[in-house]
Amino acid sequence: MAWLIKGGWVVTAERVEQADLLIEGERIVARKPGLATSSADVLDARGKYVLPGVIDAHVHYQMPIGNLWTADDFYTGTAAAACGGVTTVIDYAEPLGSGDRLEEAIERRLEEAGEKAAVDFSLHLVLLPGHEEDTKALQAAVERGLVSFKIFTTYNQRLSYTAIKKCIQASQEIGALVTVHAEDHELVMSAREKLKAGGRTSVRYHALSRPHEAEVEAVRRLIDIAKECQAPLYFVHISTAGAAELIASARRAGLQVFGETCPHYLLLTDKVYNTEDAPLYLMCPPLRTREDNLKLWEVLSEGYFQVVATDHCSYTPEQKLSGTAFWDTPAGVPGTETLLPLLYSYGVREGWLSLPQLVQVLSTNPARLFGLYPRKGELNPGSDADIVIFDPRKEIKLSAEALHSAARYTPFEGYTLKGYPEATFLRGQLVYYQGRFLGRPGQGRFIPGKLQI
Ligand code: URP
Ligand code: ZN
Ligand code: ZN
Repeated sequence: MAWLIKGGWVVTAERVEQADLLIEGERIVARKPGLATSSADVLDARGKYVLPGVIDAHVHYQMPIGNLWTADDFYTGTAAAACGGVTTVIDYAEPLGSGDRLEEAIERRLEEAGEKAAVDFSLHLVLLPGHEEDTKALQAAVERGLVSFKIFTTYNQRLSYTAIKKCIQASQEIGALVTVHAEDHELVMSAREKLKAGGRTSVRYHALSRPHEAEVEAVRRLIDIAKECQAPLYFVHISTAGAAELIASARRAGLQVFGETCPHYLLLTDKVYNTEDAPLYLMCPPLRTREDNLKLWEVLSEGYFQVVATDHCSYTPEQKLSGTAFWDTPAGVPGTETLLPLLYSYGVREGWLSLPQLVQVLSTNPARLFGLYPRKGELNPGSDADIVIFDPRKEIKLSAEALHSAARYTPFEGYTLKGYPEATFLRGQLVYYQGRFLGRPGQGRFIPGKLQI
């Protein structure tokens, strides 16, 4: 099967240029103006942008939490992803407990994802206390293609700062990248206890229960550790101005510190916790203020954040409303399908990001950081033909009814978008066209990461 994508504006991390793309089988074979062939289907891309497939570097599909499961499994989650121009997702292989062998956690997750995924996927490996000592298993994980580890400073999965230092050192020796959910557990717990003591337990208090300082303190301590070890460190879902400033200043000082933020931290504020829909917006860390939104945009625009991902962790409204307090409401929001159009409308159109920057933070940078480049994140001959045709003139009002996640709601309901994906190719196959998903479960492949940084 061959495709010729004709007359579009091809956007890469470096530039925007008018060129045609020829796809043969699963790969791009040529990129230049004036390509012609009689043996390919032609897609007229005049007036459209042609982008490398988006990589959502932070998703949680088919995840158990207490006696619940996330609404999206690997099929519904990745089908929705394809409809938003996302061709690769990076989920998590998570051991069941500290005693669970990492190899088993990896094979289990590969099997779960492989059966159902409709776009390509890679995996970060979650480390629970004690796993950081098992350097043999860490090395084996890297050889299996899991080149990034995920640790927490909070929740039951948390590692102490001392264990985190060991983990960072061990990972550095192997060449793997440590990614971290950074909220200082003691500060979170002390805020929670104060609120509980005052009877303030509803979701209205969620933002106060995980204060800005908790993120800032954890980021400060972790940057110090990274500096001491002279090792790279990647912060997931940064939500506060304070943490963003710390990451920017660490990078200015030459440290290999990387930052990720999410559309909800760029666009939404904690005001929603005063509404009756508050549980629908509960995620950790919580939404912050307008000032935080603006600082995050600024830091992203200046290139100090490398990745925008979604932390897609979807529950239905019924599941979200099943909690009784801020600590037992299922945490997380859906987002993968709306990542690209939101970032285009509110990032590019509002002047925060150029088109090449959009491609950097949504595709090329995550591909590079997580060992998928140049197979992914690029539009060169030889790269996988993961391509989005994006119509910058298409105007829509976001509505969950038109989206594909099993969450059945979006935190961005009613948002006006100018610009929307028209078509998505996954390794040369048309998997989405004008509102319709055309792919199938099991079509997505595991893409092993290769060490790069
Ligand atoms: O609330 C969130 N973010 N849920 C997903 C798990 C995590 O902490 O990333
Ligand atoms: Zn997290
Ligand atoms: Zn997450």
